[in-house]
Amino acid sequence: MKNVVLIGFMGVGKGTVSREIIRQSGVVALDTDDVIESMENRRVKKIFEVEGETYFRDLERRVATWLSHSVRDTLISTGGGFYKVPNLNLIGKVVYLYSDFESLYQRILNHPHAKKKLKKRPLFQDHKKAKELFDQRAPQYEKVADIIVDVRDKSAQQIAEEIIKKAMK
Ligand code: S3P
Repeated sequence: MKNVVLIGFMGVGKGTVSREIIRQSGVVALDTDDVIESMENRRVKKIFEVEGETYFRDLERRVATWLSHSVRDTLISTGGGFYKVPNLNLIGKVVYLYSDFESLYQRILNHPHAKKKLKKRPLFQDHKKAKELFDQRAPQYEKVADIIVDVRDKSAQQIAEEIIKKAMK
């Protein structure tokens, strides 16, 4: 299996879907934000606060280089801005989880720990700014994607099944 790279906007459910794919298929998985937090021994939120976004994006590019050289047969979930790294497609098959902005915003608000979910995301502090970022990114996600999966009105289980069928077989 080629690596499968899950991309999409904050809150679309990349982590949840990744856990469900692991459950259904037993594939090995990692998350780029987790790798960055381990490298830095601090949270993404802290990295943004102390070092700024440019520093964080540089870490993403370093992780991308490592992934493309050294990681095989793995499901890779990513932070919402990771899709911008150069040569994303060299890492693996790119799967874009698509939802409209209001649906993914509602998905976050419906979570029992909604406040925490929003707080840990520096670029999701303001609804209007986040919507602008979404509008700006939406066509770019589509452009780099090999496969687009519309996640609206589907359970994590259904989405995982679809990804396994379309990208992992
Ligand atoms: C970001 C998304 C976050 C995290 C960082 C930046 C973005 O990940 O990487 O806060 O630029 O969209 P999630 O998509 O998991 O929230």
